[in-house]
Amino acid sequence: MEYHKQTQLKHYNSFQTEAFAELFCEPRNIEELRKCLSDYPHKKKLIIGGGCNVFFTKDFDGLVIHTDIKGLREISDEEEEDEDIFIEVKASENWDGLVSYCVDRGFAGLENLSLIPGTVGAAPIQNIGAYGAEVKDVIKEVVSIDMETNDVVSFSNQECEFGYRDSIFKRANRYIIISVIFHLKRTFTYIPKYFDLNKELENIEEPTIQDVREAVIRVRQRKLPDEKVLPNAGSFFKNPYITKEHADKIIEDYPGLPAYLQKDGMVKTSAAFLIDKAGYKGKREKSVGSYPNQPLIIVNYGTPDGNDIVSFMKDIQKAVKHIFNIDLEPEVRIY
Ligand code: EPU
Repeated sequence: MEYHKQTQLKHYNSFQTEAFAELFCEPRNIEELRKCLSDYPHKKKLIIGGGCNVFFTKDFDGLVIHTDIKGLREISDEEEEDEDIFIEVKASENWDGLVSYCVDRGFAGLENLSLIPGTVGAAPIQNIGAYGAEVKDVIKEVVSIDMETNDVVSFSNQECEFGYRDSIFKRANRYIIISVIFHLKRTFTYIPKYFDLNKELENIEEPTIQDVREAVIRVRQRKLPDEKVLPNAGSFFKNPYITKEHADKIIEDYPGLPAYLQKDGMVKTSAAFLIDKAGYKGKREKSVGSYPNQPLIIVNYGTPDGNDIVSFMKDIQKAVKHIFNIDLEPEVRIY
């Protein structure tokens, strides 16, 4: 494994902002990964997988580790008729490649998460979710390397401390995910959970797992920009949680406000709606804009400078704060 100096990171972040890494390496297995941690114990480190949820505003003065650790094994060795199936997937496998593999074999649990960009190792970090499903629902265990001790550490589902677009891995910035063990099922029944998807499947009486994957792909392709054509990092902000009183007050002026009451009494609302009503849907400032079909997505029309994205982000936050008194929190990581 080689260490490269002054490496351009443009093609390692889906927003395609430009920045240099002081040092860069691509470990292909756990031994190489541990070696690069022990070669540079005191250097600042950044781990990138698909780079689909991150962008750069300046050069990175440390070691960027782009993991390239691949592999997949089914660990249910029991009889075919067993309902539960467990598979261990290495961190750098492509996420949608895994979903496709599972759907082809009728392994149920990942189909709603079709076409999400990125790698398997990145999925638990922000607990990816779409169409009423979250990856936490099918994760049995996450295996990582602790950057402080260089040891292999496993986390049970509970120990991952999953939340909405959140986990211990996002907060601690200490563990490098090397593989994920999924718990899937051999039987599939469609449970209607999400309006857009139910609508897409309304003409099919009993949707198969393949029908669901295809429907999710169609909905996503209609609403979301392809990052290879129009660089972006998916949803830019998290959907905010507000008090019931706050939501009721907004609904007086904006009766269409999506409001989902949570177990703790708070209300989860829609960042896309707030951005839309603040007048930012499809709006563009120089080379950065909000995507016309889904205003929660910020797209890069050609700036190499991540600061332009930050400046547009701040404009949206200011407008939403001013009108609704809500702080939008970025879901994307900014370096
Ligand atoms: N809306 C508008 N104007 C628009 C578009 C949407 O007001 O132009 C409002 C509508 O009220 C709509 C609501 O926003 O009902 C929700 O829109 P959507 O169904 O597209 O979902 P979202 O809440 O904006 C979340 C995830 C997406 C995920 C979708 C589908 C977050 C931050 N985002 O978006 O995840 O694909 O649900 O389940 O939770 C991602 O994280 O990168 C991502 C794309």
